[in-house]
Amino acid sequence: MTDAMPAATPPQPSGSAEPSEPSGSAEPSGPPEPSEPAGLSEPSGPSEPAGLSGSAEDGDAEHTLEPAPEADDEGSVTLRVWRGDQTGGELVDYTLPAQSGEVVLDVVHRIQATVAPDLACRWNCKAGKCGSCSSEINGKPRLMCMTRVDELPEGPITVTPMRTFPIVRDLVTDVSFNYEVASRVPAFAPAPPGPEGYRMQQVDVARGQEFRKCIECFLCQNVCHVIRDHEENKQHYAGPRFFARYAELEMHPLDTNDRRELLRQREGLGLCNITKCCTEVCPEHIKITDNAIIPLKERVVDSSYDPVAWLGRKILRRRKRSPGEAAAARG
Ligand code: SF4
Ligand code: SF4
Ligand code: FES
Repeated sequence: MTDAMPAATPPQPSGSAEPSEPSGSAEPSGPPEPSEPAGLSEPSGPSEPAGLSGSAEDGDAEHTLEPAPEADDEGSVTLRVWRGDQTGGELVDYTLPAQSGEVVLDVVHRIQATVAPDLACRWNCKAGKCGSCSSEINGKPRLMCMTRVDELPEGPITVTPMRTFPIVRDLVTDVSFNYEVASRVPAFAPAPPGPEGYRMQQVDVARGQEFRKCIECFLCQNVCHVIRDHEENKQHYAGPRFFARYAELEMHPLDTNDRRELLRQREGLGLCNITKCCTEVCPEHIKITDNAIIPLKERVVDSSYDPVAWLGRKILRRRKRSPGEAAAARG
């Protein structure tokens, strides 16, 4: 695994999702969306991987390996990988003998092992569980370790880094934005347990369990146009992964924190216009929009704008209880 360095302009792969304009968002400040990753039109010089004897044609380097004697007779596979750093880069073709049953990460590893040992990519589990190997494959946000080569269309497979986050090097991006957002989420705050301990209905357990499947791959953050196309929105927007986290906590029957005002004022819940792109790319199939964002929006609207609900709360003095109040109510 190769890892972190400072921020850069992310590449802009072709064929990436083009969600619609967020309601209320500001003018885009990022570069226009070209048909190739940003910085590709003016490569910062050839980034010839170490140990290669290949040639560069039409701006893209190309490297070919003779089939290994033990290789399957399955033809070849070409990975078109973005190589570069925060100063710029280019797509480089690597053609290797094909091997059956491989995922894209396998081919990246073979490239590292044979022709480009300096190719940077982040991975850990190769089982779709650590969330490290996120990238854009043929322009679609996906996990490299869960994308089978034989399920992709014929021809070169383009592999580029996630566009929403600053480039570190090659396929590695700086995802620290997400950890900054995570640090702002008010923690679970249960009241002290009653005489029988904590008790929950199974339906409440199951509701939170869906959100806990998240592997923090940040593919949903990457595809969300509110920050993908508007860098400046990162200052006041949490993003779908964290709306799922907020939903998990807000819906927890034992929790006593009220995060609705924070979601409205600080975390930009209103900027999401429910395009569902986040849900479409989630490798854990979490229904982020239907099960997290929409219920959160309803709760925020109820608390801030519904006059009947407001009057009801005034009359009944109903609000989320503090931990002390919740404990006292349990006796
Ligand atoms: S639905 Fe998901 S991808 Fe679309 S704007 Fe909302 S958070 Fe972003
Ligand atoms: S919600 Fe899904 S897409 Fe988003 S970070 Fe978690 S696992 Fe990845
Ligand atoms: S390597 Fe862990 S999710 Fe791909």
